[in-house]
Amino acid sequence: MIQIITAENAGFCFGVERAIEIAEKTAERCGEIYTLGELIHNETAVSRLREKGIVPVNDVSECVGKTLVLRSHGVPRATEQEARRVCAEVVDATCPFVRKIHRIAGELPKEAKLIVMGDREHPEVVGIMGHAQCIAFACRAFGEVEALFTSGEITPDDNAVMVFQTTFDRGKYSEITEKVRTEFPRVKIYDTVCNATVKRQQSAVELAKRAALMIVVGGRSSSNTRKLFEICGRYCKTVFAADASELPVQIIKDLRSDSIIGITAGASTPVDTIKEVHEKMNKEIIKNNENEEDFASLLEQDDQSFNRLYAGKRVKATVVSVSKKEAVVEVSAKQTGYITLEELTNDPNAQVEDIVKPGDEIEAVVIKVDDSVGTAALSKKRVDADRNLEKLMALKESGEIVEGNVAQAVKGGVIVIYENTRVFIPASQSGVPHGGKLEDLKGKPVKFKIIEATNERGGRVVGSIRQATRERREAERAKFWETIEVGQKFEGEVRSIENYGVFVDIGPIDGLVHTADLTWNRVSNPKDIVNIGDKLTVVVKSFDPEKKRVSLSAKNPDENPWTKFLEEYSKGDVIKATVVSITEFGAFAQIIPGVDGLIHISQISTERVTDIKSVLKIGQEVEVKIIDIDEEKNRVSLSIRALMESGESSEE
Ligand code: F3S
Repeated sequence: MIQIITAENAGFCFGVERAIEIAEKTAERCGEIYTLGELIHNETAVSRLREKGIVPVNDVSECVGKTLVLRSHGVPRATEQEARRVCAEVVDATCPFVRKIHRIAGELPKEAKLIVMGDREHPEVVGIMGHAQCIAFACRAFGEVEALFTSGEITPDDNAVMVFQTTFDRGKYSEITEKVRTEFPRVKIYDTVCNATVKRQQSAVELAKRAALMIVVGGRSSSNTRKLFEICGRYCKTVFAADASELPVQIIKDLRSDSIIGITAGASTPVDTIKEVHEKMNKEIIKNNENEEDFASLLEQDDQSFNRLYAGKRVKATVVSVSKKEAVVEVSAKQTGYITLEELTNDPNAQVEDIVKPGDEIEAVVIKVDDSVGTAALSKKRVDADRNLEKLMALKESGEIVEGNVAQAVKGGVIVIYENTRVFIPASQSGVPHGGKLEDLKGKPVKFKIIEATNERGGRVVGSIRQATRERREAERAKFWETIEVGQKFEGEVRSIENYGVFVDIGPIDGLVHTADLTWNRVSNPKDIVNIGDKLTVVVKSFDPEKKRVSLSAKNPDENPWTKFLEEYSKGDVIKATVVSITEFGAFAQIIPGVDGLIHISQISTERVTDIKSVLKIGQEVEVKIIDIDEEKNRVSLSIRALMESGESSEE
């Protein structure tokens, strides 16, 4: 009986899945939205997206004032800038792996030369070239690279850099890079071929080597689907089908009864389309079987062969029951499997019922089959880890901050569980000070960044809490400087006390309250009125973003003694005041707390005064006349002499 096998990594890749999710969420939020080009090269999927209000357009000018989503391929920098200028909102769904190439291209100096290996008309290549400020060339093969050097467009001494379209054929990548390293050793090569593409191509090759016929499902305009077609064609007869209706079913007649038909699909092919192709092919095989047995029994046989379990096979399973130690699952109508807690999750603190419940449909991989009792041991965590690795690699590229729970402290760091994946956070990246207890983090949610994600050594993912904290603080600081205003109020805490004032923590930075701005009253040492840890309400007096300085005042405007003074006193009033300080040019006398007036040396007496201290003493109460009030400068001038001359008194 002919067998049909679908390649392990077929269909939507991480980047396409992510772009669709972003577009769907944006459409839910905004109603009709637009995408620059089709999100996926698949007519059925595009019309389903249209029904959800996601409409493809060819140019930014078609969605002025509307919401635009940039698809996973990315766009040139100028297009993005234009979109941000004319659209109401631009949502970026560029795949993080493509963004990484944009960064490489964008950071090259003007005199560099960029070689982009890929289809020059492909939107991804156009987008990458549109991010370079230097000259950029698109090449498909080594010959074209060679021609750039022989024609002198690039000289051997140039700062030349080579990147690859993410969907570039991995085999060709190796051939080209080997030649470039030999012929033009100064060219700096970046491996930007996407792992999802590599995996899809590898599993297609593995299957094509065993198959008599390969069916490549996907849109004809999808470059990665075309590449799969080309790769599979090197090993066996290969046909192309956009969907089940395009299947050349008569081809089955030429196949031997023990043949394998392989199915693979491009990154933009929906799972439903792959399934429909599989089912249609299945029915055709049965129909064409010359041995006209009972149709139903053949179908059953096929089902059994299709569902035969073997170690390494990925299966869909339904959870039947859960216990403390394991979950029992049904793999097909006739097969039972079990997944132990250790194979369900990486989280040592989780229970089986935290992860699955009866009725859940899950994906798992077979690790062992026991034919004697008809059961299979399965693993969910291995499938999750495989699927998540791609996502984690993208998170590393995008630098996004994520959250997970610390499961345990281990030698040299802690383990955080993020979406069922163990992420190692080295002690130096944990944010715990040297000598601190890592154990204290156990069970706590933490925010971190992925700094390493590789499938080497069975998959290694490393995170950093420290980097996430630092970035969050930097972002908070940047926002602080963007939004700070004179007069803005903060509730702060005294951090340190100096002779000239106190530093108050107002969030991302500490601001200075000068001693004179602490209170309306006269203070000689800030320590006399505040302690470290005191809460203070402060307002911004001035700030300097370049020097990163903020000057604050803790004086409450409602208690401004000047307001009270102006309400109660006028020029010409004769009042009593207390001498609070003596200088060379006069003495200051307090009228009310917070308002001192100056008795200039010439206003102390009708006689000439040379030594003020021989006439006035600190703490002495004197009768004075208010001879001037400067409201702008908050200054009051007092005179004893004026009273001596006029004979006036405050008692009158
Ligand atoms: Fe897909 Fe992004 Fe790779 S769009 S093929 S995951 S570069």
